[in-house]
Amino acid sequence: MKTLIIIPTYNEQENIANLIESLRNLKISNLEILVVDDSSPDGTGDIVTHESKKPGLAIHLLTQTTKGGLGKAYANGFQWAIKHDYTHVISMDADFSHDPKYVPEMLKVDENVGIVIGSRYIKGGGIVGWDTKRYLNSYGANIVTRIALGLKPKDVTAGYKRYTREFLESIDYKHIIASGYAFQVEMIYEAQNYGFSIVEIPIIFADRRVGQSKISGELKRSAKVVWKLTKKREGVRQFIKFCIVGAINTIVDWAFYAIFKTFIGSSTQTLKQIAKACSFVIAATSSYIMNRKWTFRSTDNQILKQAIKFIAISVGGLVINNSVFYLITSPKFLHLADILGLISGTAIATFWNFFGNRKWTFKED
Ligand code: GDD
Ligand code: MN
Repeated sequence: MKTLIIIPTYNEQENIANLIESLRNLKISNLEILVVDDSSPDGTGDIVTHESKKPGLAIHLLTQTTKGGLGKAYANGFQWAIKHDYTHVISMDADFSHDPKYVPEMLKVDENVGIVIGSRYIKGGGIVGWDTKRYLNSYGANIVTRIALGLKPKDVTAGYKRYTREFLESIDYKHIIASGYAFQVEMIYEAQNYGFSIVEIPIIFADRRVGQSKISGELKRSAKVVWKLTKKREGVRQFIKFCIVGAINTIVDWAFYAIFKTFIGSSTQTLKQIAKACSFVIAATSSYIMNRKWTFRSTDNQILKQAIKFIAISVGGLVINNSVFYLITSPKFLHLADILGLISGTAIATFWNFFGNRKWTFKED
């Protein structure tokens, strides 16, 4: 095993010398460091050059002329590593959030494991020093990403990882989408899709004590990358669109019901039922059009046939929704709270509607 630790830096003059010193003190043989610095205005690069003259640990510096983002820095660092004879690469932040004491633990894991994740979200792992907002942001982004991309590891946004050379060589760097923080996610995505093994070991992530985080504004950028990655998973994409269409047309349904009630009147139950039926027809039609054009992008010319199928599925969904609601709330059965009945009914009916329409109404062959 010959390992390269890659540390991307942007304005880390308060941290980088101390970090290099800590790594040197680990006294691990066959270990070298590569700092990828985006020409930090605070002179981080000069400090690295100075450190590289000290004995004990080989330090390399890769200077980029512009601030290309965290992902770009890693991509260039990985390609640098491939050109040299390293068998493994560890990625690590410069600000001590990633405690150097975990380096030996990462190196202990079977050398054939494609990616070792220093994980905050498994038993034994954790985060100290973040306020609730930052924690919820990170945790939420992690969960949403895992679901959207079907990723198995618990911490998919982690920055502290060990990679095998074999994995790094398998990547087509020209086609990597993320140039920023979402790069971390994209690596996990690639590894899982190409069948590389992934192992998580627990780490305690500590917030940086000095210097500033560069993550602000990254959430939106990362969300875009995750959305692009779902392209390869058409079903998930369609499901998200289908839910959006459903939400919009639920509002359309309510709005038209309110309008019809004022015109038709709501003095009797029959009038109310008529108003409800009218609003349902409008909402179902608009929902059909949106799903045909946007969600499933159907080009099938038999519109009438398709619309009838769509309505049939919707009616089925309505029956399922009401039945589930009844089963859950009725004193004769589970007798649980109405809200539970509403949520379960809607959720089950949504799955029914989605799969029914995907596999039947809009099936293209
Ligand atoms: N070369 C280069 N270029 N380095 C950068 C850039 C850049 O544009 N932006 C940030 N860095 C470096 C920082 O100098 C630091 O060493 C490391 O990347 C992490 O940056 P921070 O700004 O400290 O990130 P963070 O603490 O907010 O985020 C950490 O947690 C995230 C998950 O919650 C990182 O570990 C992320 O990778 C991780 O996704
Ligand atoms: Mn940090």
